[in-house]
Amino acid sequence: MILAPSILASDYARLADQVAAAARGGAQLVHVDVMDGHFVPNITLGPPVVASLHKATPLPLDVHLMIENADRYLQAFVDAGAAWVSVHQEAVPHLQRQVAFLRERGVRAGVALNPATPLVTLDEILPELDYVLVMSVNPGFGGQKFIPATLEKIRRLQAIIRQRGLKAQIEVDGGVDESNIRALVEAGAEVLVAGSAVFGHGDPEGAARRLIEAAG
Ligand code: DX5
Ligand code: ZN
Repeated sequence: MILAPSILASDYARLADQVAAAARGGAQLVHVDVMDGHFVPNITLGPPVVASLHKATPLPLDVHLMIENADRYLQAFVDAGAAWVSVHQEAVPHLQRQVAFLRERGVRAGVALNPATPLVTLDEILPELDYVLVMSVNPGFGGQKFIPATLEKIRRLQAIIRQRGLKAQIEVDGGVDESNIRALVEAGAEVLVAGSAVFGHGDPEGAARRLIEAAG
């Protein structure tokens, strides 16, 4: 299991320190939420922050693009040092092209699904994906309540991936905390994103360690 703290809940003025603390607690990937104020009702950050963070941490960066017209920005995020990039199924009409673009550049490619978007929408693209990002809240904000139906969605996705002999990993994002992380891992999630559960209480190192312990 890989813990990926979401910097959305961190103190952006102390980003490097906060990420270093989470890394000491066992985090292996850094989740970076990019929001454009169109696809989701919130605005965060872009390639310059990713580039600076890339210089400041040895951990790979997992860039979650909650933006329209993602094709215009993929190259900039690749150049900024993103190691994993996910685009939203709901925001991207030419998914195959964008997934291929990322993989040709050595970036791990993922597709994110909103809670109401069915797994069947990934049927054709699934063999080309390095990971599926299953949203367990509606994207746009940190600190929201986990949607319990996600567990069953993850179980079904894991069964499909196994049955078809595919390599895609399952990442889950939204409302992940000590109370549900173990059930998520048991359901098939391998990459666990956590924002407020890591950065919300002033001790990212301890919080990351406790989450990994709770995951079993
Ligand atoms: C929500 C973001 C999440 C968010 C998770 O739109 O994609 O990555 O930071 O935050 P928590 O863990 O607080 O729900
Ligand atoms: Zn995210």
